[in-house]
Amino acid sequence: MSTSLDNSVLAARNLCVGYGEIPVLHDVSVGVAPGEVVALLGRNGAGKSTLLLALGGILRPSAGVVALGGKECTTAAHRRARDGLAYVIEERGVFTGLSVLQNLRLGQGTVDDALAIFPELEPHLTRSAGLLSGGQQQMLAVARALAAKPKVLLVDELSLGLAPLVVERIFRAIDEARSTGVGVMLVEQHSRTALQVADRAYVLDQGRIVLDGAASDMLPRIDEIEQAYLGVGGQ
Ligand SMILES: Nc1ncnc2c1ncn2[C@@H]1O[C@H](COP(=O)(O)OP(=O)(O)O)[C@@H](O)[C@H]1O
Ligand SMILES: [Mg+2]
Repeated sequence: MSTSLDNSVLAARNLCVGYGEIPVLHDVSVGVAPGEVVALLGRNGAGKSTLLLALGGILRPSAGVVALGGKECTTAAHRRARDGLAYVIEERGVFTGLSVLQNLRLGQGTVDDALAIFPELEPHLTRSAGLLSGGQQQMLAVARALAAKPKVLLVDELSLGLAPLVVERIFRAIDEARSTGVGVMLVEQHSRTALQVADRAYVLDQGRIVLDGAASDMLPRIDEIEQAYLGVGGQ
């Protein structure tokens, strides 16, 4: 499970992270290369969001290294954002009291770039973001993140509560970003969907990486993987 810090746009090596005295992640090493989509799978409470929070600079590791663009990185979240790390958090990070346009202006990219990614948002620019559907809010969050032209995008539970067609649409935008060289790390409950989109995947269980490999190798074993690690099928 070697993870080169040099080839990865974002990597963690031997990361230990917890909340106060409570350890959650143990010796976790992961990496995302430019133009690669990596899925992070695991049952509820496995530590997926905690790992993204540590990669994003929101949680400080107690041991181990995070590297952005091949360089060890200990900076705060806002600085990592300026250095090319975009992060769509589980709660989407949309300001519901502001309009769609105001939300887009809060991003680091231009409104035009955001609308080029999701033209669907254009008719809603003056609406309050709180009045959008869940899918439109997620498009807004992803549009704002990708308009910043990040080197790497972290997305937590993108598909939660969304209709399959909307999820497909958003994954298409992520796939386009990948083709321009953006590295993507996705946390996903829907492991099949994730493995269909991803190049590679890691499975996290109780704060440890228990499996990693090419998505194309994991997809045919999905039933076995779900039973063993993802709490699907009789658990
Ligand atoms: N703010 C917090 N304070 C204390 N423990 C937390 C906090 N957030 C998450 N945890 C714990 O950390 C573990 C991993 O949580 P999380 O990373 O959210 O898992 P996942 O995203 O895989 O569902 C869980 O046991 C959870 O209860
Ligand atoms: Mg989570």
